[in-house]
Amino acid sequence: MAHNLYIGLMSGTSTDAIDAALVSVATGQVNLLASYKLPLPDRLRQEILALNAPTENEIQRMMTLDVELGRQFAKAATEVLALSGHNKSEIKAIGSHGQTVRHRPDGEAPNTLQIGDPNIIAELSGITTIGDFRRRDMAAGGQGAPLAPAFHSAMFRSTELDRVIVNIGGIANTTILPKDTNQPVIGFDTGPGNVLMDAWINKHRQKNFDQDGLWAAQGEIDQVLVTALLSDSYFKLMPPKSTGRDDFHLPWLEQYLKDLSGITPENIQASLCELTAKSIADAIANTAPATKEVYVCGGGSHNPLLMKRLQHHLPKSIVASTEALGIHPDWVEAMAFAWLAHQTLSGMPGNLPAVTGANHPVILGGVYHR
Ligand SMILES: Nc1ncnc2c1ncn2[C@@H]1O[C@H](COP(=O)(O)OP(=O)(O)OP(=O)(O)O)[C@@H](O)[C@H]1O
Ligand SMILES: [Mg+2]
Repeated sequence: MAHNLYIGLMSGTSTDAIDAALVSVATGQVNLLASYKLPLPDRLRQEILALNAPTENEIQRMMTLDVELGRQFAKAATEVLALSGHNKSEIKAIGSHGQTVRHRPDGEAPNTLQIGDPNIIAELSGITTIGDFRRRDMAAGGQGAPLAPAFHSAMFRSTELDRVIVNIGGIANTTILPKDTNQPVIGFDTGPGNVLMDAWINKHRQKNFDQDGLWAAQGEIDQVLVTALLSDSYFKLMPPKSTGRDDFHLPWLEQYLKDLSGITPENIQASLCELTAKSIADAIANTAPATKEVYVCGGGSHNPLLMKRLQHHLPKSIVASTEALGIHPDWVEAMAFAWLAHQTLSGMPGNLPAVTGANHPVILGGVYHR
């Protein structure tokens, strides 16, 4: 029996966990067969966060982390395989995004780095592994990001209704799917997703994230602060554009807080939630003003306050989780990298030049044979 099975591995800017999705790929269809979330050990999280900004002894620390994360990615792949009941020989490939430690898509020498050595993943799992998806797009003049829109388009595009997909991970990205197939798909990072909310609650409450937005719900939105934060030039940039922890971090927030006194920590949390909701809604209003359907995936879809504020700012549209389209919001991005691995092995492009700004479609990634 011929199999078209792939594993996708995703560990995003939130650094919460490695998401593993085992899928079957057939023409126009990707089905989720098994999923597994491997929480990242705290020590590795701290090291990822430390290496996201210039620091001491970077090369040696990064190389060590590259090996340690490679082992963790292999573990996530092995676990999801065991859960599925399939044998490794049935899996065509693993598509591994890797962990971003730098993303600087603009300037004289644009660069991006995802670590978690694919050699180690291939060796430990016994499965052909594809990694380093972003840099070929960048070499072709693109941002190297976002890459999920091609998958969103393959999975969710409707010929009857304009649709928008929003992934709210650490960073939030949106994909505009026009019903008219002559119109290009647009996609870009809108700005912070959960990354600032996570950092703020971690600083004040020693928690990794604001469960169900409960802490933010105790506060009130400070409109002066939200307006100040929204004045950042990233929000005004026209797509293609992409961002990361390089742009949105605690010192970025603190430079705005300096000028404002007396805001309580929970009011700041409420304002950060509002910043995410408003910046996403503004991006949709600017690029797809007529859309009636917005579907959300990623961890942010589990935050009821964030979903409520998004709906508030998009009154003419339904705002729902991708669950409504049949895919659980936690697995969309990992499934995207399984699908991208399939594209690569099939000799098909994985980037959308209209999204990333690349000069042409390219086959993404490097192949590390089993
Ligand atoms: N119940 C919840 N309430 C509030 N926030 C939640 C909840 N569940 C998850 N989250 C948020 O979602 C984040 C994780 O989201 P996700 O895994 O999609 O992001 P990511 O790892 O950055 O992925 P990617 O880069 O692929 O988008 C957590 O850090 C947290 O902020
Ligand atoms: Mg995650």
